[in-house]
Amino acid sequence: MCDFARGHHHPDGAEAGQQFGFLVDVPEIRELIAETRRLSAEIADTAARVEALKPAFSKLLAADGWLPEAFASPDTKSGMGGGIGQYALYRAEDLCLFSLVIPAGAETPVHDHLAWGLIGVYRGRQDETVYRRLDDGNDETRADLEVARRQTMETGEFYALLPPRDDIHFVKTVSEVPSVSLHLLANDTACVWRHRFDPAAHTVKAFRSGYSNAPCPEDAPAAAHPAQSS
Ligand SMILES: [Fe+2]
Repeated sequence: MCDFARGHHHPDGAEAGQQFGFLVDVPEIRELIAETRRLSAEIADTAARVEALKPAFSKLLAADGWLPEAFASPDTKSGMGGGIGQYALYRAEDLCLFSLVIPAGAETPVHDHLAWGLIGVYRGRQDETVYRRLDDGNDETRADLEVARRQTMETGEFYALLPPRDDIHFVKTVSEVPSVSLHLLANDTACVWRHRFDPAAHTVKAFRSGYSNAPCPEDAPAAAHPAQSS
């Protein structure tokens, strides 16, 4: 359990404000993270590991009272736009748990995640549109996408994410109240350079959503994706 400072100890550096570890330190979150670490050490196969994690994730999704209201509220200064709040609850380089708050009627950009994990709706109702990629991905500035499926997710429903399958999607809140979804993903999702897509224009851009409650390192997309620097 040394995730707190592993590789991130900058006592007086520019990144001293970064926050890792349990940003919301409650037994419910500690239990899920401990179970994730335990199963990650025990089960090498990603699909089997995620399957084994479902009961622990489902338990958190069904529990009341542990999520601070501030982390279940929209964020007007959102990196995602549309008032969407993305709040880190637990952070490490290889695992995070965050809440995503999407105001009523708002939707995320089309994006990917680049990590396995579990995603579930904690409050409200969401429509999810999943895309299938038709090109080979060799051109980092272009993507040919078609809609693979649409589904409505009610409170309490969740699914496993096993990239590259079904990794590109967007989500819209279709309830009258903001939707809150919980994401347990095997990277530091909001600070990783990933991709946002414009399906109509067939374009891809480097994308880092950022957390609403914790800063990201100040590296440029060029560092992670040299081909996208132009
Ligand atoms: Fe997503």
